[in-house]
Amino acid sequence: MERLQKIIAQSGYCSRRKAEELITLGKVKVNGKIVTELGTKVSYEDTIFVNGKMLSKKEDKVYYLLNKPRGVVTTSSDEHDRKTVLDFVPEGTRVYPVGRLDYDTTGALLITNDGELTNLLIHPRNHVEKTYIAKIEGILLKQDLEKLIHGVIIDDKKTAPAKARIKKIDKKANTTLVELVIYEGRNHQVKKMFEAIGYPVMKLKREKFSFLTTVGLKSGEYRELNIKEVKKLYNEAKK
Ligand code: URA
Repeated sequence: MERLQKIIAQSGYCSRRKAEELITLGKVKVNGKIVTELGTKVSYEDTIFVNGKMLSKKEDKVYYLLNKPRGVVTTSSDEHDRKTVLDFVPEGTRVYPVGRLDYDTTGALLITNDGELTNLLIHPRNHVEKTYIAKIEGILLKQDLEKLIHGVIIDDKKTAPAKARIKKIDKKANTTLVELVIYEGRNHQVKKMFEAIGYPVMKLKREKFSFLTTVGLKSGEYRELNIKEVKKLYNEAKK
């Protein structure tokens, strides 16, 4: 149970002070009855009308981890009518992707209606770890690997320290598979980092977002996070 003015303010209808004013003026009904007493306790189950308008109930939070396929945009709607990541999770709740993966990038993408967690996870200050596997053109030299780790200039600004290691070299195909762990989320960051040192990215997958991996999820499949994972994400972001 919460104070009526708090519930009204939390719904986004108005400020708490304005809510108090409306209650005192007799503009608020709880389950069909006008309530003018300020401290009245109500629950999210109660039906509340303010100025004749029903308050929307607080939504349950949902958290989906999608293994994003290639050829899908990470926006809520696409002007060219292409498939979006939201086509892969249940309808009914307005949810949003946490950050972006490019059209041709695959892998771990969190989708939720928890705005607070989203803001924490995408804020650069919170250094959330993102692990990518990039297949690049060329055989990556040791000194270039070091550059990725210490920072390269992209869009006129040096990237923060990262972790990088070579997973596989294919001399015949002239390609290298590299694991790159970054703590920022700048636009097309991984592709630009490799471009900056002269190796075009041919394929990109996000293997891990924080501690969440796509293990067990086929391309295009999603799963719901459990409460432990949600709490852990809050902790990781606030570390
Ligand atoms: N970096 C990129 O270049 N692309 C992505 O999709 C994600 C990170």
